[in-house]
Amino acid sequence: MESAELSELNRLKMHHGEHIILRLTYISRYNTDNPKGEVTRILTQAQQNNERNGITGALVFNHNYFLQSIEGARPVINELLRKLVKDNRHHSLQVIECREVELRHWSKWSMKYLIPSDENKGLALKFSTGTQFNPYLMNTNQIMMLIETLSDLQEQEAVSAAKKKKPWFSIG
Ligand SMILES: Cc1cc2nc3c(=O)[nH]c(=O)nc-3n(C[C@H](O)[C@H](O)[C@H](O)COP(=O)(O)O)c2cc1C
Repeated sequence: MESAELSELNRLKMHHGEHIILRLTYISRYNTDNPKGEVTRILTQAQQNNERNGITGALVFNHNYFLQSIEGARPVINELLRKLVKDNRHHSLQVIECREVELRHWSKWSMKYLIPSDENKGLALKFSTGTQFNPYLMNTNQIMMLIETLSDLQEQEAVSAAKKKKPWFSIG
């Protein structure tokens, strides 16, 4: 494509706010009428679509609740939000936070999947208000901290699992 055409294309895109990156975080309830394995299908679909649409993010699934952060170009995030609201595999979607960001937080993941492991099951409760996990009772800070901490712990667990596999004296 000629460079004049390219800059025209970029100008048109900017008219739609393509250059503005939004991060949107929401919570929702899983529809338990879904067939078995639906969460895996949701995740695969999210990862495939997001790769194509330049969306990155993280999805937590815990006690039949979803917590999801999606980040990408503003019109693309708005389009996805419309689809998410209509998707009957979950319901009662509530937006927790929506902000413009300079840099993506989840830039390495088309959709990072986070489920509390046996070791950090208590963590979800630590950020909760009551004795049972319920993100609808949590404020924005608690929700953001929970997603962040789960992500950090999952990474630490992956590192220690890799270390366990490889003895210190191994070569290469
Ligand atoms: C909890 C949950 C999270 C989802 N996350 C994404 C996502 O990150 N990206 C995406 O494209 N679709 C996601 N979806 C699916 C969308 O609601 C919608 O079905 C899909 O984007 C439609 O894609 P299509 O237009 O290619 O058929 C999610 C659905 C659920 C229930």
